[in-house]
Amino acid sequence: MTTHLRTRGLTARYGSARVLHGLDITVRRGCVTAILGANGAGKTTLLRAISRALPTEGDIELDGRSVVGLKTEDVARLGVAHVPDGRGTFTGLTAEDNLRLGAHRLRRAEMEEQLEMVYGFFPKLKQRRRQQAGTLSGGEQQMLAIGRALMSCPRLMMFDEPSVGLAPILVKEIFSIMRAIRKERGVSMLLVDQNAARALDLADDAYVLETGRVVLAGPAAEVASHPSVRAAYLGA
Ligand SMILES: Nc1ncnc2c1ncn2[C@@H]1O[C@H](COP(=O)(O)OP(=O)(O)OP(=O)(O)O)[C@@H](O)[C@H]1O
Ligand SMILES: [Mg+2]
Repeated sequence: MTTHLRTRGLTARYGSARVLHGLDITVRRGCVTAILGANGAGKTTLLRAISRALPTEGDIELDGRSVVGLKTEDVARLGVAHVPDGRGTFTGLTAEDNLRLGAHRLRRAEMEEQLEMVYGFFPKLKQRRRQQAGTLSGGEQQMLAIGRALMSCPRLMMFDEPSVGLAPILVKEIFSIMRAIRKERGVSMLLVDQNAARALDLADDAYVLETGRVVLAGPAAEVASHPSVRAAYLGA
């Protein structure tokens, strides 16, 4: 299995405060890597660093090629789609216009194809396509954010807390859709989620961060059975 994304010695700071201390993280192609960690551990910062939303030290390689000198839109062009926390949809636009914005570079016929592909994963969005995004429910807005990322035909998706604030039934639905996207589209994924049980179940590999450092890493099943993870994240 080839390496899709790798960070080496990744370090980030906000002002003088260092929040990532030399992270080595790998996402294998077509696989899911889960990141666990308490609030403030640096999970969002890690995803933002990969998206080049903040300056960092160390290296980030996509398909073996460094992306540290690139801008956010260049990283996106290389097939990385970031589904940020807080969802980031355009509330005044319809659901479908939000989706179209996810693939504004496509020609019309391709755009329609992509829309149908996304609606295949999210039939509810099709029903709501003319509705203003700001009036969608929390779960629908999260689906819209994922759908918009999917519109760009990503090869690597990064999810920041996709299930936060959702009712259990919707959490289950979002995870099963992520599983389907991975299976049917072969997309690699870097997944941050507080729902450790579901994240570890979906993932192939997992890392546990504590205050910006990796404290545990390995196959997701091994991480899930580690006593410290069972106690802190799985309530066992
Ligand atoms: N823009 C910022 N300016 C200054 N400090 C920041 C900024 N963003 C995050 N931090 C700090 O960096 C550290 C890591 O934050 P980050 O958002 O990456 O954590 P997280 O693991 O995503 O936490 P959570 O689970 O609460 O989302 C925290 O101590 C946070 O206060
Ligand atoms: Mg966060």
